[in-house]
Amino acid sequence: MDLRAYLQTALDAAYLAKGIHQYYQEKGFTQSSKSTPTDLVTQADHESEAAIRELIAARHPDHVVLGEEQGQDKEGAFRWIVDPLDGTVNYAHGFPFYAVSIGLEAHGEVVLGVVLDTARGELFTATKGGGAYLNGRPIRVSTRSTLVGSLLATGFPYDVSKDTENLTYFQRALTKGLMVRRPGAAALDLAYVAAGRLDGFWEVKLNPWDVAAGWLIVSEAGGRVSGLQGEDYRLGNRYLVASNGLIHQPLLDTLHGR
Ligand code: IPD
Ligand code: CA
Ligand code: CA
Ligand code: CA
Repeated sequence: MDLRAYLQTALDAAYLAKGIHQYYQEKGFTQSSKSTPTDLVTQADHESEAAIRELIAARHPDHVVLGEEQGQDKEGAFRWIVDPLDGTVNYAHGFPFYAVSIGLEAHGEVVLGVVLDTARGELFTATKGGGAYLNGRPIRVSTRSTLVGSLLATGFPYDVSKDTENLTYFQRALTKGLMVRRPGAAALDLAYVAAGRLDGFWEVKLNPWDVAAGWLIVSEAGGRVSGLQGEDYRLGNRYLVASNGLIHQPLLDTLHGR
């Protein structure tokens, strides 16, 4: 497996998306809604995914792609898992916290992840067993060992009125006096855990494209990623808890009301 070549493809694809995000941010874009009036999709989401797919197909014609906007049409040993624009609502409002997220799964295992903050230009990368990096410099999770004093993040499904589960967890965290942010781009939330800017993150209705890259980046930065019961995380689990490891159990306990 030529991981270096695949990483180069991921980087080139991410920078293509960055150009598209920036172009439409300056020029203006059309947008529409998907599952709910607040579940937005813009021209930048669609065009970024199309450009990423075209690049991957040209370089690795036998690989398959799972992308948020176009799904997946066949099976294969190598699968690219792509969120062409994570944080679309932020993007649509010009709130500069959004990214492109690209992961590569080889024979069922995520082997590389790239999250590029296309507004700030911060590049988070990881390869399986090769560590995690921000703009080429190694990153590690934080060393904070107490939940009180930790900085946490979460996110919510688009229509919380129909899906209130995370409100319970959110309330449990807040009523313990914990500090919780809702930045609005799950891939970047994970990258921030990896970089030690957040001590923990959880969310309850995530999709593979939100987490494939960020999961590996957190793991390679020395953090822990699990499901809601503390089980090892597996792609497809819509519940994810990520942390520096030290606050993981206390965070799980808090979410469960213990
Ligand atoms: C969303 C963002 C958000 C999270 C949602 C995701 P999108 O992705 O990551 O932070 O709370 O669960 O769906 O739609 O902006 O790519
Ligand atoms: Ca979306
Ligand atoms: Ca997303
Ligand atoms: Ca998206």
